[in-house]
Amino acid sequence: MTGFDQAAYDRDGFVVLQDHLAPAEVDVLVTEFEHLVATPSPALILESDGTTVRGHHGGHLVSDVFADLVRLPRFLSLSEDVLGGPVYVHQFKINAKRALVGDHWEWHQDFTFWHLEDGMPRPRAVNFALFLDDVTEFNGPLTFVPGSHRGGQVSTETRAGTSWTDTLSSTLRHQITPATLEAALAGREMVAPKGPRGTVVMFDSLLLHASSSNLSPFDRRMVVLTYNSVENALATVEDPRPEFVAARDVDPLEAVPDHALERRVGSSR
Ligand code: SIN
Ligand code: MN
Repeated sequence: MTGFDQAAYDRDGFVVLQDHLAPAEVDVLVTEFEHLVATPSPALILESDGTTVRGHHGGHLVSDVFADLVRLPRFLSLSEDVLGGPVYVHQFKINAKRALVGDHWEWHQDFTFWHLEDGMPRPRAVNFALFLDDVTEFNGPLTFVPGSHRGGQVSTETRAGTSWTDTLSSTLRHQITPATLEAALAGREMVAPKGPRGTVVMFDSLLLHASSSNLSPFDRRMVVLTYNSVENALATVEDPRPEFVAARDVDPLEAVPDHALERRVGSSR
């Protein structure tokens, strides 16, 4: 496991944490994910073909495995340190990005969605992207504009006639123009961290990111786990997204033992 480099996180808006999950832990997470997606649920979002699972949301609310995952000290302590106090899970999703059909994610800042859709007051939240499969240049890696979080929230245009499901689909509700992206990119190079399953990428809620479609014959399953400061509770909004997409229970999380997932290794479903 690599240590956390605060200076790099502040400068770039992301850090790569190598071997943050052990192979046996990833196996447990993959098994649990495939079990969840096999059961019809409103928490499942489909690709535009209407049949392929794009992502599952709120797994930490319905699964003991994912409830343990979000309470592991290696995630919880890091987010408490970075956000300066107790935290809760704002959002927990697993994007399947299935072989050949897993579609892209357009350029966005997560905070735009959390602010406009959910009423999050300030960008005092942090993401962890957990690689459940090897991530390569061909299966749709997360792609960042390093340092873009320091420019604050960029302007967006909201597409008419859309609903909350368009905040999770391949054509996003809040759009960034090429000119905005060009301005954010000035003097910078895009970066797409790759790595083996078990790698974790921690990134800022204002970091501009996107990902391309999966051109490979292998899935690119990825957990995106978001912690928010309990002092940054969501305001009331008209027509809020469901609890499984944007949680409103701000009870601070308490850690479980760091081996909580390992003790489930080999337990059959
Ligand atoms: C996201 O931006 O929330 C997810 C992107 C991805 O899964 O590639
Ligand atoms: Mn995002």
